[in-house]
Amino acid sequence: MEIIIRENYEQMSRYAAEIIAGYVRAKPDCVLGLATGRTPIGTYRFLAEMHREGLDFSRVKTFNLDEYFGIGMNLGIDYNLDQSYARFMYEELFKHVNIKKENIYVPDGLSREPKKFCMWYEREIKRAGGIDLQLLGLGGDGHWGFNEPGSSLGSRTRVQALAKQTLDDNYEAFFKKANISRNQMPHFAITMGIGTILEAKNILMIVNGARKADMVARCLEGPITSQITATAIQLHSGGITVVLDEAAASRLKNVEHYRFVEKIKSQYGL
Ligand code: GLP
Repeated sequence: MEIIIRENYEQMSRYAAEIIAGYVRAKPDCVLGLATGRTPIGTYRFLAEMHREGLDFSRVKTFNLDEYFGIGMNLGIDYNLDQSYARFMYEELFKHVNIKKENIYVPDGLSREPKKFCMWYEREIKRAGGIDLQLLGLGGDGHWGFNEPGSSLGSRTRVQALAKQTLDDNYEAFFKKANISRNQMPHFAITMGIGTILEAKNILMIVNGARKADMVARCLEGPITSQITATAIQLHSGGITVVLDEAAASRLKNVEHYRFVEKIKSQYGL
């Protein structure tokens, strides 16, 4: 596991975007797993900038981690377009790059047969040859996607009830400003499972801010537990890169070691 610490959000985002761009350049038809939330917004901005300078997304396929479920069905409020993750991805990345519509996969939050849909989503990931690089953030309660505390570390794509902390966090970040009340926001999501995520060939996790420093330390240096589903990172068998800003790295015990490893690796071009 490679742990990279950058001074601030901007530098974290640039570093992450460069990793993603590296995959796209090396394998123009690569399959990317994508994430939502405030954290990846900067990364997506850098990718859009790189696209303006020639980075080609025309053969890239993407699978998003998750989507609110029942969007548009809750209490008759029509927030399905503005608050959905599909909309988020369109606004933050897809409309800025030359990705083809047919190569974009986001879970269908309006599916009437969610179980069937989830099975189909898993099949499509396999049919695409699996995910080459999965981008991940970190939820306030230590989740990946919407795999809330207690989700099995072998879980697959499914409908998941959101935990209180996630509802609080995402209400503050996205729903409040749209005048949607805490009760009216969606309380369920379709999410790739932890087992699904662990099948990605490579993982890129990005985390910023002091608010998540404790969770970052528990996730990278603490015991593996289904109570903090992102601790499953310690089980992944492929390439893992974690990019943090200084604030998010501030509670790590072995921080000097991580910095040392990064320095040595770059000195020797490893
Ligand atoms: C949501 C998403 C996660 C994301 C998390 C953190 O719960 N489902 O994929 O990592 O939010 O969001 P933020 O980056 O806004 O802190």
